[in-house]
Amino acid sequence: MKKKILVTGGTGYIGSHTAVELINSGFEVLIIDNLSNSREDVLEGVEQITGVRPAFYNFDLCDLSRLDDFFREHSDMAAIIHFAAYKAVGESVEKPLLYYRNNLVSLINLLELMGKYHVPNMVFSSSCTVYGQPEKLPVSEQSPILPAESPYGNTKQISEEIIRDTLKAVNELRAISLRYFNPVGAHDSGLIGELPLGVPNNLVPFITQTAAGLRDELSVFGDDYDTPDGTAIRDYIHVVDLAKAHVIAVERMLKNKQKSSCEVFNLGTGNGYSVLEVIKAFESSTGVKLKYKIVGRRAGDVEKVWADTTFANKELGWKAARDINNMMATAWKWQQYLMANKDRYLVLSQE
Ligand code: UFG
Repeated sequence: MKKKILVTGGTGYIGSHTAVELINSGFEVLIIDNLSNSREDVLEGVEQITGVRPAFYNFDLCDLSRLDDFFREHSDMAAIIHFAAYKAVGESVEKPLLYYRNNLVSLINLLELMGKYHVPNMVFSSSCTVYGQPEKLPVSEQSPILPAESPYGNTKQISEEIIRDTLKAVNELRAISLRYFNPVGAHDSGLIGELPLGVPNNLVPFITQTAAGLRDELSVFGDDYDTPDGTAIRDYIHVVDLAKAHVIAVERMLKNKQKSSCEVFNLGTGNGYSVLEVIKAFESSTGVKLKYKIVGRRAGDVEKVWADTTFANKELGWKAARDINNMMATAWKWQQYLMANKDRYLVLSQE
């Protein structure tokens, strides 16, 4: 019998890539998503890649009684990977309560029902945002957690604390929080990828939309940082590498004989790239020239951050395998797929 894994937010960007890797590793995938920032037809991409269409449940995790029904029906789940959350930093500053309610209530509901129905394992989507601007680079799991810059970032910090406290109190629950650096790129098939609704906040979707002619030009936010070329540095990680780390985290918990355990891992490549280096990598790996201009810094941005991945490499036996050129080439392949299916997708980016 295949082990059942619940993927919340499974029609989203990282969720859909993780669903593919789980199916390819022999798991049965169940998805809960309320489609607040994704579309159901992502499931077609997952099915085309794997030959399997995951069972899909469209409801909000904040609806405790609906979620209880779901758990009752699937109390044999082996693990939960909890991606579903709001993630726009700027929006969270404008609508903090929306972020606190959605991101925290959904987590609390899941943890409560994991206890009630004895579903023991959770992988939680956390973020390098919990480190703020670290004093020492690269940033390891032991680096201090700094006060969050945004309500979104704060929900990630608070969520990690909620998980830790719950695990202390409830025996037989295990959790792994994965702190992602900057996930980019798309599946090699070009059939699934990041699908921003409206104007993208993040660098790589903005680059691919500009290259595709949907945006006039890219704005580079600041060239007066204390970095070699003055633009901000991030640790970009391919979404497929990231997805594979989730499968390894699930397998680790399934093998774990300890009753209760709470672990945290950084997921990055360990390499930092500046915004200008990302643009150059995009141009050289796709042959497409990008129009861009330098503008002022974006409020709330950190100057530079990249991961110390030693702990994840050693303990998980996982290492990011794909380089920045592969990240750009696959992101571009996905953008071209979107352009070739304009009737279905173009409306999404029109804002
Ligand atoms: N950038 C631009 N132009 C753009 C978009 C981004 O120059 O149009 C720059 C940003 O200023 C930053 C870099 O590109 O220097 C990366 O920006 P992203 O928005 O892609 O990613 P962030 O590092 O800002 O955000 C990511 C996640 C957040 C998380 C944050 C934590 O998307 O969810 O890391 O640091 F909170």
